[in-house]
Amino acid sequence: MDIILLGPPGAGKGTQASRLQAERGMIQLSTGDMLRAAVASGSPIGLKAKAVMEAGELVSDAIVSALIGERLDDAGEAGVIFDGYPRTRAQAEALDLLLAERGRSLDYVIELVVDEEELVERIAGRFSCARCGAGYHDRFKRPKVEGECDVCGTTEFKRRPDDNEETVRTRLAEYRKKTAPILPYYEERGLVRRVDGMGSVDDVAAEIEEILDS
Ligand code: AP5
Repeated sequence: MDIILLGPPGAGKGTQASRLQAERGMIQLSTGDMLRAAVASGSPIGLKAKAVMEAGELVSDAIVSALIGERLDDAGEAGVIFDGYPRTRAQAEALDLLLAERGRSLDYVIELVVDEEELVERIAGRFSCARCGAGYHDRFKRPKVEGECDVCGTTEFKRRPDDNEETVRTRLAEYRKKTAPILPYYEERGLVRRVDGMGSVDDVAAEIEEILDS
């Protein structure tokens, strides 16, 4: 089963995708994670993407669709969760081609719906362990022992350079202008299912499970 998790920044796409990966053996393909890895490695793609990402704008369609194409080749029989891709009509059309070339097709586009002020609060408070990547939040999920990662015990944490209020507002504007308009493309095909992303992580996960099992 191949699905898209669609929603604005902070809607919970990454949280739910990694859960589906762990629980169902599906493969999470996050263009945000791929681009951050490219930036960290200093590759040519990373050099092009860095400033664009830090400004909260979208990286070019050609770059992200090429990244997805490469990773799809390794997906094999496992179902794929597209997390943060597609984000424009051109990417949606590219994804259809990439899937068709590999004999695959989309089963669902699951839209996570969350209020805008909640999104800003979720993102502006987010940080993670610098060693193992475990995720935390200033208000909703602090480490059990202050300043120490619950998972690996390190005392070093990091924040994404684009996780500040000003950049989040730009990211939300990009979502409204370029990504939300692709929903009708999938609605016409009856693929869209809406999930209330304001519930707890467990509640949202249960709603998604219900869709996948239906
Ligand atoms: P990307 O990494 O995709 O960021 P994003 O879409 O802005 O999404 P986030 O990762 O911020 O949020 P999320 O929905 O995954 O939420 P999460 O689960 O983390 O993209 C970054 C940048 O890369 C883009 O701005 C762009 O420049 C570039 N890029 C990436 N893909 C691209 C593409 N296809 N085309 C062009 N450019 C691209 O949750 C957020 C927080 O909320 C966490 O702290 C989490 O613990 C918490 N949380 C999650 N669920 C809940 C819940 N139910 N209740 C309470 N808290 C919750």
